Order: sequence, then structure tokens, then C-alpha cells
Amino acid sequence: MYAYVETFGCQANVRDSENIMGMLAEMGYQITSDQSVADIILFNTCCIREKAEQKVFSRLGALRALKQRKPDLIIGICGCMAQQEGMAALLRRKAGHVDLLMGTQRLSRLPELIAQIRLSGTFQTDTSETGAPPEENLPSLRRSPYKALVNITYGCDNYCTYCVVPYVRGRERSRNMDAVLEELRALSRTGIREVTLLGQNVNTYGRDLDPSSSFHALIQAADRIPGLRRVRYLTSHPRDFSRQIIDAIKETQHVCRHFHLPVQSGSDRVLEMMNRGYTRDYYLALVEYIRRVFPQATVTTDFIVGFPGETDEDFRDTLSLVKEVGFSSAFTFMYSPRKGTPAASMENQIPLAARKERLALLMRAQEEASLAHHTRLKDRVVEVLADEISGGDGAPCMLSGKTEGNHSVVFSGEPSMLGEFVPVRITEPQTWILKGEAVC
Ligand code: 5AD
Ligand code: SF4
Repeated sequence: MYAYVETFGCQANVRDSENIMGMLAEMGYQITSDQSVADIILFNTCCIREKAEQKVFSRLGALRALKQRKPDLIIGICGCMAQQEGMAALLRRKAGHVDLLMGTQRLSRLPELIAQIRLSGTFQTDTSETGAPPEENLPSLRRSPYKALVNITYGCDNYCTYCVVPYVRGRERSRNMDAVLEELRALSRTGIREVTLLGQNVNTYGRDLDPSSSFHALIQAADRIPGLRRVRYLTSHPRDFSRQIIDAIKETQHVCRHFHLPVQSGSDRVLEMMNRGYTRDYYLALVEYIRRVFPQATVTTDFIVGFPGETDEDFRDTLSLVKEVGFSSAFTFMYSPRKGTPAASMENQIPLAARKERLALLMRAQEEASLAHHTRLKDRVVEVLADEISGGDGAPCMLSGKTEGNHSVVFSGEPSMLGEFVPVRITEPQTWILKGEAVC
């Protein structure tokens, strides 16, 4: 029996898919990358922007014929789209060949739901919101032997006005700190060298626990786990990224000096409408403090352009922020109205053409900034965790990996370097990646 699992969206979904695949493997399925041989096909979906949803519906459409040929094939939707209101009814209308709809909060029910479909041949769903503490100790098929994703919080309480996440992932719930640290220790024992602590807003980790705990305490404890060489975390919220956290990072050896701080907009008016809880000046002061403490820090961000009511002047403020901060890279998104969020019913929605134009301008500005930042690394030696062979299988071959600052590096080296921290001299900095060669 074969199972095909495709993941859309963010790292939280990537991690959930590892659990989903773990459970499928325990049920006796072999994981395949070939849909045509699969007995079960699961899409772990994302609904943060409309495009992500459209992709899933078009993938589902393409499966209609396969399902006709193989009536026993189970097709399932899990993840954030599954959790949206009215999804079961929508699927009945648009994709009647789907057998399973499973929400984000009860992953552990997957084996039971699959068994019921096998038994009864009827549609099964569980999108209940438990609000309970996160499920622990689910089986897991991890992607990499060197790097691992580790959940620390689930859900989000921030209610940025454009964002659907709080509605589909529920209230913020932190994992118990001992459970997190135990998982980190176990991972380290299996050879994992880099971990990424995951949450929608990791900086508020522990506030909901009794007794309460904190993000800075967690990273300091993670830093002391033997064998872990890099501790990363995703995602931060600038409002909650306190000086206390920055000062705590300074005391650590292994917490990466990479600061991903999604700013979303450079205009105070837009930030206010987005309910982000900070101003442009606050953000600039935060970055300045980080750079004072860590002169070598890399700072990256996310932007949304074309938020309702965004004027040309507001957009110019975003463009100027790109120059002022000098982000080493940024994810740039066009605002996508999400049903049920406050921004979707705001007046002055920006026409698609204008949103596209702003996105193109912003991308161009950021590409220039990225290249300028990368060019400064030419001839420097950086340390790369080599985690993939990206070309040639003999020696020498091309490997790829990331620096502490999260730069992607492609370099010539030996296959034996996989899983090692390799010193690499940067020979050819480009906009998206750095090219280089291993220094022996
Ligand atoms: N439209 C466009 N981008 C969005 N993001 C979140 N919601 C939306 C939306 N409705 C972006 C934000 C966030 C990133 C994960 O996705 O920039 O930081
Ligand atoms: Fe969405 Fe804001 Fe929560 Fe991030 S912090 S998931 S953008 S509501």
C-alpha cells in the first residue's frame, strides 16, 4: 500500500506532514512520490492566500479521472483549508471525489478516519477545535537527518486584520517546555545538528502555560543541549521581540544571529490598519538595537503590498524602508483578501493591477538590496551546514546548504561533507544564492 502526501504552505505544515507520514508508515503504508501508484493521496493545505487554495482545487480536479479508474483510492484534504468554515459543503459541490477532510487540531485521529473510510466507503471528517494542549508523541517521518523542525506553539492570538491563521489554527497554545527540551535532546542523540523552533509568534511562547514560561528561557535552555550546533526559530513578531530576548541571545552560543522580523509595511497608517501593534520608528529602533548587539546579524522580513487603503505615499514608505534597513532577503506578497477577516470587508480595496505593479516595484527594490548585501560576502569564508547534493554524484560534486544567517549557498565539495559544517569561500554572490567552494 502506497501513500502520497503533498504539503502546501509554511513550515508548520511541513512539520504536520512529517507526523502524517509517520502515522501512515505505522499503518503499513509506504510513502511514494508517484501519485499514480498511491492508495491514498493527502494534500496538507494552506489558505493564507487565495493562490494557495486555487492550487489545491486544481490538483483535486486533476485527480477526478484517477479516482474513477481506482474507486478504492482515498483522497484527503488536511491542514488549514480543511479548517475553514463551510469547507465540507464546498467540497461536496466542487470535489465530490474527496473522501476525507481533517482539521489541524486532531492529527492523531487520522488512522481511525482512514480505517472508517476503508470499512464503510463513506466520507469522513473531523475538524473539531479542541483548544486542548497540543498532542504529544505522534509518530514522525522526518525529512532530514541533520535538521529538524520542532513545534513550540500552535495557533495565533494576534488577529492581524488581513490574516486567516487565527481562525484556522485556533488560539495560541504553547507546548510544555520539558516536552520541547526532551524532543530536542532526543533529536540531538540521532545526529540532528540544527533545529528550528516553530510557532506563529514564537516570542510569546509560554505566556499561556501554568506556571508561565518564556521564549528567552526556552532558547537559553535549548542552547545548552549537547550536540545542537544551531538553534533557529520561526516566526517572530516585531512587537514581541523584546530587548530581553535580544540580550538573552547574546548569552547563547548556538542561537543563530539571523533575525526574521516580518514588518509587512513601512507606513504607520497601514501598520495601524493591519493591527500590527508597532510603528515604523519602533521597528527601525529594534533593528538598530539588534545590529548594535550583533554587528554581523542578518535581518530578513515579509511584506504585504496593496493592503486596503494603501496609498502611493504609503507604498513609498515601504519602498524606502527596504533601503533604510537593508534586508538581506524578503518574502514579498500581494495582499489577498481572506473571507472572514476584517480587512476583507474594508473599503478601498486596491485593484489587482495596482497591487501587481506595487509588488513588481517592491521585488525589484529588494532584489537590488539582496544583491548588494550578498556582494559584501564575496571572498569571505562562511560556515555552511551541507544538507543536500544539488548536482553530480561523484567527487567533486555540488552541495547546498545554509549559513547561520540563512543565506542559501551552493558550493563544490565532496559527498562526504553531507551533514557537516563546511567552511566555504564565496566566489560568486548572486541575488538569491551565494556560490562558492569548500575550503579544505
Ligand atoms: N495576503 C497576503 N499575504 C499575507 N500574509 C498573511 N496573510 C496574508 C494575506 N491575506 C503574509 C504575511 C505573513 C506571511 C506568512 O504571509 O506577510 O508574514
Ligand atoms: Fe497571521 Fe499576524 Fe498571527 Fe502572523 S501574527 S499568523 S500574520 S495573525
